[in-house]
Amino acid sequence: MMTMIPILQTSLGSLYQADCLKLLPTLDTESVDLAFADPPFNLGKKYSSNIDDARASQDYLAWCQQWLDEMVRVLKPGGSLFLWNLPKWNLPLGAYLGGKLTFRHWIAVDIKYSLPIQKRLYPSHYSLLYFVKGDKPAIFHPDRTPVPCCRHCGGELPDYGGYKDKMNPKGVNLSDVWTDIPPVRHAKYKKRDANALALKLMDRIVSMASDPGSLVLDTFGGSGTTYVAAELTGRRWIGCELDCSTILNRFDLINDDREHLEQIQVNKNTLFTFADLARRKKAGIPLSPKYRLEQNKCECPPAAVSGDLFATV
Ligand SMILES: C[S@@+](CC[C@H](N)C(=O)[O-])C[C@H]1O[C@@H](n2cnc3c(N)ncnc32)[C@H](O)[C@@H]1O
Repeated sequence: MMTMIPILQTSLGSLYQADCLKLLPTLDTESVDLAFADPPFNLGKKYSSNIDDARASQDYLAWCQQWLDEMVRVLKPGGSLFLWNLPKWNLPLGAYLGGKLTFRHWIAVDIKYSLPIQKRLYPSHYSLLYFVKGDKPAIFHPDRTPVPCCRHCGGELPDYGGYKDKMNPKGVNLSDVWTDIPPVRHAKYKKRDANALALKLMDRIVSMASDPGSLVLDTFGGSGTTYVAAELTGRRWIGCELDCSTILNRFDLINDDREHLEQIQVNKNTLFTFADLARRKKAGIPLSPKYRLEQNKCECPPAAVSGDLFATV
């Protein structure tokens, strides 16, 4: 078997500038805890790697099945596989994977990605398929999310009625519809023209289905969001990409992502975010004393937010 030389190596991870169908056969069977794939969607887009992104449907699906077979092979028993794609492709690919792995969820990630199309519904979600090898996941600790609140006044959007005192102080159960994943817009965090997934999305997946020290695989590196999420949370990682230039630059500036991830993490596993508490304080909206609140575990809240935000007004 060919020996491959990584183009980037950290103490936790290795990146190869290679075709995924070259890298995957070199990986040991049942060695990976979490496999993630965000392949090109066959929409005829231009990629710096000059791939053919306009194949006949059957060719595209056959190609996906090739690397999915390998991902299934390298997954440990109890390991998780996540596949990000348009519903159009995840429908047949999900059926294919169903013959090999155990289906867990079709997660709808609410992101608008194209203009409304005549005589069609407005496409507003990406599909994130979640499968495990064997009956149940070896690792599963989904984030809890904050109560959705008004962006202006910080007031709760759902009405929890008489159940406020029953709410988990760490937040709301994660559902299979994710409405809180932002498009990658902010210039500082936008690592390339298109295609980069949000760090919040990859942090959520990595935290849910791996532990520090687990091995995370992503065969379509793109701008390296998965690798950054893994690196900054102490997971081992391995991956490949045909044109690694963006990932190399991103790792040179990894402190930007570290700072961004800190902001993301301070707002998860908590019932109310600092920002929402600050907004409602400013708007003079008291928080019901029935909520059981827990001081956020971060010891250094963002400088902009200070004071007795957790005191009920
Ligand atoms: C949709 S992007 C991935 C974006 C990534 N998830 C992120 O957050 O930045 C898909 C990437 O797969 C790469 N790619 C396409 N075919 C490949 C192959 N056969 N092997 C490895 N990478 C490939 C493309 O160059 C492109 O950068």
